[in-house]
Amino acid sequence: MTKIYTDLYQFTQVIEPIKLSIHQYLLVGKEPILIQTGAMPQTEVTLPQIKEILGEMQLKYILVSHFESDECGGLSVVLKEYPNAITVCSEVTARQLMGFGITNQVEIKKPTDTLSGNDFEFGIIGYPSEMHLWEGLLFIEMKRGIFFSSDLMFAMGENHGKIIEKTWDEAIGFSGVENIPMGDMLDKMMRDLRALSPRFVACGHGPCVKVL
Ligand SMILES: [Fe+2]
Ligand SMILES: [Fe+2]
Repeated sequence: MTKIYTDLYQFTQVIEPIKLSIHQYLLVGKEPILIQTGAMPQTEVTLPQIKEILGEMQLKYILVSHFESDECGGLSVVLKEYPNAITVCSEVTARQLMGFGITNQVEIKKPTDTLSGNDFEFGIIGYPSEMHLWEGLLFIEMKRGIFFSSDLMFAMGENHGKIIEKTWDEAIGFSGVENIPMGDMLDKMMRDLRALSPRFVACGHGPCVKVL
């Protein structure tokens, strides 16, 4: 676990045979927020660390970009410890969670919605990352300028705690978004990314980026 940016802790599981880093983030303000739970075995490792950081504080939200094991596989484990935490995700993702019997409080968000609280304000864009290219979400915390990239800006290797520097244009240029096979979806995603101006990218897999 590393405090990697303002109020932001990074946790990492490395899949050893392929050296893939899977990061989770805890944003600790007055209302703490977990971004990506990691897969269940990883959640069992990180949960005691999360509890240590939070102490008496409760987890307010869990942000889920899309339904995949590294994004939300450990959700039920987190919810056992923090049953009042609200899961924030797209409508498609919510359906998946319900289908797997994870039925705690879910707040469904659409692109252009926001999520705000005492000391945070998240902007939300669409991310065609669900199966069949259905809609997942990407989150940017605007007060601190942190963009949570999920599977974008992907890189292999062991990169816990690592930060590289790039312009936002460079970060978008090699983001992996170009792999979206549908032209109109790709154009929209690129437009949405270009409209953001983060100061820091909290990557799901890869080094974080200090935006120049
Ligand atoms: Fe994913
Ligand atoms: Fe991922």
